[in-house]
Amino acid sequence: MKYQQEIAKRRSFAIISHPDAGKTTLTEKFLLFGGAIQVAGAVKSNKIKKHATSDFMEIERQRGISVATSVMSFEYNGILINLLDTPGHKDFAEDTYRTLTAVDSVILVVDSVNGVEDQTRRLMEVCRMRDTPVIVFINKMDRDGKNRFDLLEEIEKELSIRLHPMTWPINSGKDFKGVYDLTHQSLLLFRAGTRADEDSVQIASLADPVLEKKLGENNARQLREDAELVEGVYGPLDEEDYLQAKVAPVFFGSAINNFGVREMLDTFIRIAPTPRSRMATSRPVHVQEDKMSGFVFKIHANLDPKHRDRIAFFRVCSGKFERNKYYHHVRLDKDVRFSNPYSFMAREKSIIEDAYAGDVVGLFDTGNFKIGDTLTEGEDFFFTGIPSFSPEIFKEVVNKDPLKTKQLEKGLLQLTDEGVAQLFTQFGGNKKIIGCVGELQFEVIQYRLLHEYGASVVFNSMPFYKACWLTAVDPAKLLDFLRFKQANAAEDKDGHPVYLAQSEWFLNTEISNNPDIQFHFSSEIHK
Ligand code: G4P
Repeated sequence: MKYQQEIAKRRSFAIISHPDAGKTTLTEKFLLFGGAIQVAGAVKSNKIKKHATSDFMEIERQRGISVATSVMSFEYNGILINLLDTPGHKDFAEDTYRTLTAVDSVILVVDSVNGVEDQTRRLMEVCRMRDTPVIVFINKMDRDGKNRFDLLEEIEKELSIRLHPMTWPINSGKDFKGVYDLTHQSLLLFRAGTRADEDSVQIASLADPVLEKKLGENNARQLREDAELVEGVYGPLDEEDYLQAKVAPVFFGSAINNFGVREMLDTFIRIAPTPRSRMATSRPVHVQEDKMSGFVFKIHANLDPKHRDRIAFFRVCSGKFERNKYYHHVRLDKDVRFSNPYSFMAREKSIIEDAYAGDVVGLFDTGNFKIGDTLTEGEDFFFTGIPSFSPEIFKEVVNKDPLKTKQLEKGLLQLTDEGVAQLFTQFGGNKKIIGCVGELQFEVIQYRLLHEYGASVVFNSMPFYKACWLTAVDPAKLLDFLRFKQANAAEDKDGHPVYLAQSEWFLNTEISNNPDIQFHFSSEIHK
């Protein structure tokens, strides 16, 4: 119980959204409130622009930005907030999914005009899998959006989540007047661009005639009707339900106008979970244990291709992480220490002496880390629940320069350690197959293999649509299956057997023909 105060002070979370919903804008407003940046526009969007699929300069530039904004730490009202950034581009979804394993809660941004979009669905699936508490921010209320009741219904239905409005909007678009704060019974009047103190009006009750004065008769009447309905249906928020991911508080606002953002941030620091205890392979690891433990959830190559070292993002899960202290690297069974661990105070990296549960530390890595690696003070366990998702596009790697075979192999291993793609080796053969969730990954890999490792490759498309990890109680049955299905069988990097399915039909046929074999659609790195 030594570090109770440090733990109570911390909130580690991610903002997630479909691209363009306003994640970057909202992040920036948070940083402004936290005093971490002084001017708007300081946080560059880390999304890869849609047209830039083949623009490597853009990819390189983005890599730079995303290192700098991977974790942004700042203080707000005495609370230390670690905001973990997630790439918006869908081709980097795996990276996002893994980042979600390192946070304790999320804020989901939904565009009031577009409603629930593709990425929103996928991201929420991951949150649901992990019971991550969610706060929803419905953004762009200054635009003519969907009817607010319809929108809430759409979100609830599409994302299978129960919502709980904390504020209620008064119109939208040109007629957007502001929001009514259901918890504090105050009116927050919208004014594009800036906020002034007098824009927040405390009211005695919904019957208060100040509503007419501030909103006009029609809007006042509508708000009374809406608010009574909403209050009647929802009642006060049950914070325990939120922490158990059973209900998601909802705020309406406009990030670009910094409207409704502070109210959400204030609620966030009050109700969002402090760093939580986590499951490991041998036992649950309690957040208040004295001994340090944590795991690597993201690895980022150094921007300078001449230096092969990388940055491993390490989430502290218990105890106190200290500079220059030896820790046990469980997978390699060796002791390691770090002389320059750094923290991320909004875009500036600074060497730190110590860090506590909930913090993310940047560790210089010369190839010792893989995603999912665990450091402890001696005990052997791995944190569970770090997913490795089934890739959707598969290509065979063809080496164009046999003299660079070694470099190519090293490059493939190291790049796939970073988690940008998965590497499979054909069963009983040598063929290397890369699986990714997006096309863009292949271009990044090809470019980086050439520039960082001097290895020139081309890719041959393979007709697979899904990789399934296989397990069986009887190893002989599994081996038979792999032999029989050689053209579709492979091993992942850790030697786990994988079935590469051509189509859903083939997959379903194999599943029903082979009841002794279990097909898994995501491989958890450590079970
Ligand atoms: P993302 O990180 O989720 O991809 O979204 P981002 O914040 O970059 O916002 C996407 C676009 O939506 C930006 O416009 C941004 O200015 C705009 N936006 C964000 N919040 C609001 C809001 O509350 N109201 C309105 N009307 N627009 C909002 P852009 O034209 O794509 O980029 P920029 O040129 O403004 O940077």
